[in-house]
Amino acid sequence: MKIIRTKNYDEMSKKAADIVLKKIKTSSFLSLGLATGSTPLGLYKHLIQDYLKSYTSYEYVTTFNLDEYVGLKPHHPDSYHSFMKKHLFHHLDIPTDQTHIPDGIAEDLKSECKRYEKVIQDAGGIDLQILGIGTNGHIGFNEPDTSFHSSTHVVSLADSTRKDNARFFKNPEEVPTHAITVGLKTIFNSKEILLLVSGKNKAPILKQLVEGNINESLPASILKKHNHVTIIADEDALSLLQP
Ligand code: GLP
Repeated sequence: MKIIRTKNYDEMSKKAADIVLKKIKTSSFLSLGLATGSTPLGLYKHLIQDYLKSYTSYEYVTTFNLDEYVGLKPHHPDSYHSFMKKHLFHHLDIPTDQTHIPDGIAEDLKSECKRYEKVIQDAGGIDLQILGIGTNGHIGFNEPDTSFHSSTHVVSLADSTRKDNARFFKNPEEVPTHAITVGLKTIFNSKEILLLVSGKNKAPILKQLVEGNINESLPASILKKHNHVTIIADEDALSLLQP
């Protein structure tokens, strides 16, 4: 895993945007894996700024989001469908039918997981996957002890994850208990992965990831087996590691 050290959150976001934009500009077609949460917001802001200034087109980009809460309608303000529209899709020229997010209100959630996995595979997998990391080491919503061989599946969210994400909800009690997430095998099969890490609260998990072993108890540790992972982390996130 290559580590790019940045001074702060904005520099991390700008570096990530530069990598994503270069990829878009040099690919005839790009399958882009996207994440939610606070971490990629700065990256999305830079992509929108670039679009307004340089008109980089997303006509040949297809996106796949990592996850969605079970039980939230796409129009629910706290769904990841709403999040992505508000913070990215709405501002770009990406055709709506090229943006994919699991359906958290599907009647048959197992079939929905199979369908979503197939759409990713039919697109040839993910070319570039953007990731954040949970304070417990989750990527997507793959909580500790998820199998490294997992494909898209339904998860029961860890209490710590529900607490971490309560800040996005008007009523913290409303954080769903389950989600659909792309699996660890699906993420691992991405051709290239960009992990963004920012803030002091992520310093302990980043230290554990960089210095610890590869183990299913730390889902993000699967990334250590991948040969094209770049971590872009700010000084706060790197503060517990040797410079
Ligand atoms: C969320 C998302 C993850 C995200 C992580 C970190 O629950 N499912 O994809 O990377 O937790 O979130 P944040 O960036 O807000 O710290």
